[in-house]
Amino acid sequence: MDDILLRAGGWLLIALFALLMSANAIDHGFAAQMVIVAGAAFLAAVWTMRGAGNAALASGGSLPAPRDRYDDEVIRWGVIATVFWCVVGLLVGVVIASQLAFPLLNLHSEYSTFGRLRPLHTSAVIFAFGGNALICTSYYVVQRTCRTRLAFPWLARFVFWGYQLFIVLAASGYLLGITEGREYAEPEWYVDIWLTIVWVSYLAVFVGTIVRRSEPHIYVANWFYLGFIITVAMLHLVNNMSMPVSLVGSKSYSAFAGVQDALTQWWYGHNAVGFFLTAGFLGMMYYFVPKQAERPIYSYRLSIIHFWSLIFLYIWAGPHHLHYTALPDWAQTLGEVFSVMLWMPSWGGMINGLMTLNGAWDKIRTDPIIRMMVFALAFYGMATFEGPMMSIKEVNSLSHYTNWTIGHVHSAALGWNGMITFGALYFMAPRLWGRTRLYSLRMVNWHFWLATIGIVLYASSMWVAGIMQGLMWREYGQDGYLVYSFAEVVQALHPYYTIRVAGGLLYLAGALVMVWNIWMTIAGKLRDEAPMSSPAYDPARDRPLLPGRAAAPPATPTPDPIPDRPLQPVPAE
Ligand code: HEM
Ligand code: HEM
Repeated sequence: MDDILLRAGGWLLIALFALLMSANAIDHGFAAQMVIVAGAAFLAAVWTMRGAGNAALASGGSLPAPRDRYDDEVIRWGVIATVFWCVVGLLVGVVIASQLAFPLLNLHSEYSTFGRLRPLHTSAVIFAFGGNALICTSYYVVQRTCRTRLAFPWLARFVFWGYQLFIVLAASGYLLGITEGREYAEPEWYVDIWLTIVWVSYLAVFVGTIVRRSEPHIYVANWFYLGFIITVAMLHLVNNMSMPVSLVGSKSYSAFAGVQDALTQWWYGHNAVGFFLTAGFLGMMYYFVPKQAERPIYSYRLSIIHFWSLIFLYIWAGPHHLHYTALPDWAQTLGEVFSVMLWMPSWGGMINGLMTLNGAWDKIRTDPIIRMMVFALAFYGMATFEGPMMSIKEVNSLSHYTNWTIGHVHSAALGWNGMITFGALYFMAPRLWGRTRLYSLRMVNWHFWLATIGIVLYASSMWVAGIMQGLMWREYGQDGYLVYSFAEVVQALHPYYTIRVAGGLLYLAGALVMVWNIWMTIAGKLRDEAPMSSPAYDPARDRPLLPGRAAAPPATPTPDPIPDRPLQPVPAE
């Protein structure tokens, strides 16, 4: 009881402090954000107090799972958050895509302009959708591969809720016009400090779980997750070094200036791609692809080699974002060379994932979840071929600033990040809620095709638009003047922007099908539908029924070689 009072009191103090900051704020944005913090702290206090006399709430919001089960509650929340933020992020994507095609949709309000909604989209899809997917799958994978429960369960829950607060602060900040103006790191100094606390807690939970593992070996997926968590911490700290103008105001100034600032930003930006959108998702791939295919990973040795080479090479490739700028030429060339080398370790991951299906390729026909995963790997391969190519200066001189880059981003984001996450969510949902199977496998098929057609429309329209844009910009007439004005190029892009809206809508529609499917799975419903896979052939049953002879007994299910339980130490006498 004392403990509950102490914790509730602590939350109330934080709420009061935030209100005080809000009252003394020097700008409206900061005042509004502090009210959000106070609201969150107040909710935490109420939640803690309601826990008095309730074991579940008193234990930090939940009843710990029995010791012979994995601690999955926070993962269930994570699955719901991932699906929720996915829809929000995609919806805002469709809105900004429509704004580019029909500028009237900016609605003449500062809150709904493209400039404010664009970072809302990128943060919602990368950090809210991708980040929640990474956190919840990493909690799922680390427990199963280490055969132990999560370390520091209360901290794991803090990470989840703390991360949601970070997302809400970041998103509301963009709408209010608060931004550091650093791509993929727009939140201001106080949100950065909060994220640092949450991220260090995440590292503690993840490493703590590995330390208390029952398996002697640390499975490769955990290496990728760990690489992602540690590197993102380092990138976040360095890129966000800044000086606030006031402790009760939102504005801050970067510790770097000029070309050093640009280099720091793209060192961060490219490694956000390399470690957030690649290494973390490869961790996901290394667990869920072999599990769904029911095959061991193709080459464990390859996974180790490509892990270390990926980590070593990615960190140097950032300058390819700054070709033909004030950055010294040698640094640009360094970025170019490392990016081209990066092709090989990237394909190491793709090949390892695809070859895991050796002997099980027929599953692509019958299992839409594995089909999603294979599709994701194929797009990962495509994007990591295209990226090194775009890093070559001569190619970049055409692609830079054009929609080609947007096509590259989205073929990777929708094809690789999106599809591998959907596959992982479909894998986890029935297992986390103790259902025999998903509500509907046929709806996964629908999702797959809607998303696929959406990606094809999005990527192909942007590739064509980008190359056309680049070529029109550099078209000189015989008199030495540019042939096309900027406005003419924008006008030429219109049909492609419209096709992109259609692609985005289809991709969003697929995600909505997933929402329904997962919702019904959680509700414990099973859709009455013809099975997707052809049933296994059983020769014993392929016989006429003779009078007086009993029907063959049903085939006994094969036992799961890796039971879904933590390894229990033998209890002492
Ligand atoms: C319904 C699907 C989506 C639509 C319609 C969409 C639309 C857009 C649009 C219109 C832009 C701005 C492009 C510009 O400034 O010219 C954009 C940027 C971006 N989107 Fe999406 N998006 C979608 C899904 C996603 C997903 C799932 C991710 C990541 C997981 C993502 C990541 C990004 C990134 C990183 C940028 C910034 C690109 C850059 O600055 O080069 N998007 N998106
Ligand atoms: C070997 C791997 C890769 C290399 C070498 C690479 C290289 C590049 C290059 C050269 C650009 C264009 C820079 C510019 O002209 O401004 C770019 C942009 C981008 N790439 Fe990749 N890429 C790779 C893989 C990926 C993957 C897997 C993703 C995952 C989503 C991704 C996400 C992005 C994003 C978000 C941008 C836009 C950055 C911005 O301007 O805002 N890339 N990449």
